Amino acid sequence: MASVKEMDTYAKLWMKEAGSKLRASFETKLNIEIKTNPNDLVTNMDKAIETFFCDKITETFPEHRIFGEEGMGNEIKDLKGTVWILDPIDGTLNFIHQQRNFAISLGIYEDGIGKIGMIYDVVNDELYHVIKGEGAFMNDQRLSPLKEVSVSKAILSMNASWVTENRRIDPSLLAPLVRDARGTRSYGSAALELAYVAAGRLDAYITMRLMPWDFAGGVLLVEEVGGEVSNITDKKLDFLEGDSLFVSKPGLHKEVFEKYLTGNTSL
Ligand code: IPD
Ligand code: CA
Ligand code: CA
Ligand code: CA
Repeated sequence: MASVKEMDTYAKLWMKEAGSKLRASFETKLNIEIKTNPNDLVTNMDKAIETFFCDKITETFPEHRIFGEEGMGNEIKDLKGTVWILDPIDGTLNFIHQQRNFAISLGIYEDGIGKIGMIYDVVNDELYHVIKGEGAFMNDQRLSPLKEVSVSKAILSMNASWVTENRRIDPSLLAPLVRDARGTRSYGSAALELAYVAAGRLDAYITMRLMPWDFAGGVLLVEEVGGEVSNITDKKLDFLEGDSLFVSKPGLHKEVFEKYLTGNTSL
């Protein structure tokens, strides 16, 4: 079995190499395709980065499996053995429209247990990195343990869609939370929003629907610095089908469940 250190060294190297490819792509014309609807897009670079990781992982660790958004890896029905959970570009719409506010997201799991998390903000050259139990870092800077905060002093990250009519939650449920929080933000990349919670730039991130590759790396970062992680009904996350997600600084999690989410029938 490959050691965690060995996987970490390669993963970091490949992250940086993939980042260079993405930066270089800004000078080229993107090939953009529609997936499930006109706002769900994929580019040649999403596919190229996933293929790059799949080739490297298969070559170096032939027994490992890959669970990636664009389907270049394996069909994953369980998390047995070592699984690399990869989002080649998280924030594809930002990548296309803004050439910033996107990241490569990676979580490495052994028999379902998270070992390594990496989120690379390519444009700012910020690599968020955790080896479970050994601390979380942004580049070489160790991230501090998160401190308790109340809703009234919290900056909360959330897509505006969850307080307008949508298929997943009664919009009136989260409106009071938005009103009571000190401020709300939305970055359009779940991976970056998780990294920002870990780095203390945001106090919480809440969303009704994500896939495992969106959160596999980020939740490990948040947990390592003492943040709290659950789905929107305060249960463990589903790493196969995807889930809702609520991550926050300590204390805030409890306050939000007690005051805003508990007993609501729309959940
Ligand atoms: C999306 C981003 C976005 C979130 C969506 C995700 P993608 O990932 O993380 O912030 O709101 O639910 O699908 O498609 O850009 O990798
Ligand atoms: Ca994503
Ligand atoms: Ca993606
Ligand atoms: Ca996508």
